[in-house]
Amino acid sequence: PSNTGRVLSIQSHTVQGYVGYPTFKGQVLNGQQLLDLVEGLEANNLLYYTHLLTVCDPVMGDEGKLYVPEDLVSVYREKVVPVASMLTPNQFEAELLTKLRIGSETDGRKACNILHAAGPSKVVITSINIDGNLLLIGSHQKDKEQAPEQFKIVIPRIPAYFTGTGDLMTALLLGWSNKYPDNLDKAAELAVSSLQALLQRTLNDYTSAGFDSKSSSLEIRLIQSQDDIRQPKLTFKAHKY
Ligand code: ATP
Ligand code: MG
Ligand code: NA
Ligand code: MG
Repeated sequence: PSNTGRVLSIQSHTVQGYVGYPTFKGQVLNGQQLLDLVEGLEANNLLYYTHLLTVCDPVMGDEGKLYVPEDLVSVYREKVVPVASMLTPNQFEAELLTKLRIGSETDGRKACNILHAAGPSKVVITSINIDGNLLLIGSHQKDKEQAPEQFKIVIPRIPAYFTGTGDLMTALLLGWSNKYPDNLDKAAELAVSSLQALLQRTLNDYTSAGFDSKSSSLEIRLIQSQDDIRQPKLTFKAHKY
């Protein structure tokens, strides 16, 4: 037992490294197989989680491409989003869930409002592409009667493609917003600061090994960055609207 909470994280799993590869093998579990796993947890007295539906990272797709069957989009929209308390879509996922094309900062904030109306009181669109930069938009609706508190964090785009950033971002946001439940902007500053330090380390490692960082996707230096994850230096600032 711990006093910091226990997370039941339902994900695919990788046999090597931290994230998926271009080709993957293995099976998709059906409902019965998933229930079997839950029974195993229960039989071992492990079924006592503090967070399951508190964060929904709707892993649906990226850069205009879906990586789940199209039918799942409406399942997310109608069944999953309404029971999530926090949602961390990327730009494409936010567009699919809201049916709104996000072409500007204002659109991003509108998308957050639509998502709040569907259920979650916390929404973080983890990145929107604007003029070659990345923009994170956070939105916390503390009171249903009032407009949400919104903020942005500007993140210079590193000219490389990393795998695993989305999962890590969501994990960091879950951790920090568990610690600072009323301070989504602070949670996001800490999460972005950790993640960017890790991405810089990843890039440096590859470049100093003579690797052309633009030629393929870079595997994030997760273990090597544990200090940046535990105790991030606050290098990114949230700007409130
Ligand atoms: P993934 O593609 O891993 O599923 P995602 O699409 O769900 O991730 P993103 O918004 O793309 O989520 O990435 C999460 C975070 O990773 C962003 O908030 C940003 O801070 C960081 N990030 C990803 N790629 C870059 C990059 N090239 N330069 C700077 N930051 C990046
Ligand atoms: Mg992405
Ligand atoms: Na995301
Ligand atoms: Mg993702």
